[in-house]
Amino acid sequence: VVGPNEGDMACGEYGPGRMSEPQEIFAAIAALLKDGPLKGKRAIVTAGPTVESIDPVRFLSNRSSGKQGYAIASALAQAGADVTLVSGPTALAAPLGVTLVRVESARQMLAACQAALPVDAAVMVAAVADWRPAAPAGEKIKKGAAGPSALALEENPDILATLSKPGKKRPRLVIGFAAETEKLEEHARAKIAKKGCDWIIANDVSGAVMGGDHNQVLLISEDGAESSPLMGKDEVAQKLAAKQAQALSAKGAGRG
Ligand code: CTP
Repeated sequence: VVGPNEGDMACGEYGPGRMSEPQEIFAAIAALLKDGPLKGKRAIVTAGPTVESIDPVRFLSNRSSGKQGYAIASALAQAGADVTLVSGPTALAAPLGVTLVRVESARQMLAACQAALPVDAAVMVAAVADWRPAAPAGEKIKKGAAGPSALALEENPDILATLSKPGKKRPRLVIGFAAETEKLEEHARAKIAKKGCDWIIANDVSGAVMGGDHNQVLLISEDGAESSPLMGKDEVAQKLAAKQAQALSAKGAGRG
């Protein structure tokens, strides 16, 4: 079932009752038929934030909506790939034709990614929490007379760096995102070197990117840096899927 969409209706009312746009219906059919340039290829996409418990009612997280990651998973499925989307908590529906695995913490996200291997491509779009509370409390932490206590943190595993490690299970193409607020290209190049991935999609998150519907990205690969204008997150996803199809059909793409 595709739709209905929300909006103005012929009867003059507003609400969920509009026919889905023809492109959306086409995309849904394409994702289910799995026939395109990525037919026979497998991919993992991570998306959304991770949630790290402080106690049973409180957590550390971030503002990621998951929209860019879900759009990428959907575009890869429309291009014919068999896609596992490993997602932190979001308000988004599962894209059609994609296997959705919902997780909460960074450690669960890593385990779900490893369980989905081997794949041809891994696209790490999630905004993984860099740290988690070192000792989450089993019961709700109560206000004490001494005031708030310091929250000790420990570092989470780096999923992108882990999947990029050389070895038999390394995906041929490992792609990371770089959320930056300054020195975009410099920081993104440093991330490729540090994490060992093949491409980095750098985006400036100082504006309305997180939670918004648009993104302006800089793709850094072995071919150099390719800057795109501000585009819808769906269009960014489709361009990236096409580029992956090209790279995976070329012999010896990636370091894996
Ligand atoms: N990433 C990951 N696991 C982590 C942290 C990040 O897989 N524990 C991935 C993200 O999904 C993204 C890339 O690494 O593809 C870069 O994320 P970003 O937040 O920009 O970088 P960090 O590694 O967190 O570095 P910093 O916060 O210092 O910029």
